[in-house]
Amino acid sequence: MISLKNIHKSFNDKEILKGIDLTVQDGTTTVIIGPSGSGKSTLLRCINLLETPEIGEVTINQVGYNAKHLKKKDYLDVRQATAFVFQNYGLFENKTILENVSIGLSVVQKKTKQEAHRIAQEALEKVGLYDKKDQYPRQLSGGQQQRVAIARALALHPQVILFDEPTSALDPELVGEVLKVIKEISDEHTTMIIVTHEMEFANQIGDQIVFMEDGQIVEEGSAKDIFETPKKERTKKFLARYRDNYII
Ligand SMILES: Nc1ncnc2c1ncn2[C@@H]1O[C@H](COP(=O)(O)OP(=O)(O)OP(=O)(O)O)[C@@H](O)[C@H]1O
Ligand SMILES: [Mg+2]
Repeated sequence: MISLKNIHKSFNDKEILKGIDLTVQDGTTTVIIGPSGSGKSTLLRCINLLETPEIGEVTINQVGYNAKHLKKKDYLDVRQATAFVFQNYGLFENKTILENVSIGLSVVQKKTKQEAHRIAQEALEKVGLYDKKDQYPRQLSGGQQQRVAIARALALHPQVILFDEPTSALDPELVGEVLKVIKEISDEHTTMIIVTHEMEFANQIGDQIVFMEDGQIVEEGSAKDIFETPKKERTKKFLARYRDNYII
């Protein structure tokens, strides 16, 4: 189980996260939605200490941290317990696809090269890119590069995979192949937290939907709760803007 308690984060004296509490059950997919600037990325980045909150506690099964008493080991622990999929893939341009997926396994998890390659190949098969293993990122489409980034996350077998708008840098015709791979992983009960503006996808994939606005969780519930019968006015207004095709 993942639990966030009373997370507060400020940038330049402006409070961006105003006390976030959230629980994510193992094997489930949580989707965070909300307007631009509401603090979604910041929250995701606080989970693995890419950002450090001033106040709050994070627990990821056996590990975690209390922001008031941060230790060096906490950073290692939460980084090892999580994998992050970024908007812009974050692949090493000078390494092959296989090296990109296996490097964390050999360098961080200290696996032998042979074992790292075996696990990496398995992950590449899962995202349908085994045949690209000896190519370089620039030889792949954006959608394929993002699937490599997902394979890299999967190969680490983390406690949770954190996705920050995994399809927002892609041309529209490449979005589907990436969402399909994420859906397959979700169906296998990998624990995931996904920030996305793809509402239809959120509706299909989310066991839990979290609507954030202005640094707070306004409403959370099942996809049915949030998309069909939202209770809060702010949630209704946000979703209505989507339906009317306004840009958020
Ligand atoms: N490193 C930073 N330094 C200063 N301000 C920051 C930093 N990171 C984020 N912010 C500010 O915090 C607020 C929340 O940003 P965040 O990126 O978390 O929003 P978001 O909900 O992910 O938005 P989007 O949907 O556009 O990605 C914004 O006002 C942003 O400008
Ligand atoms: Mg963001």
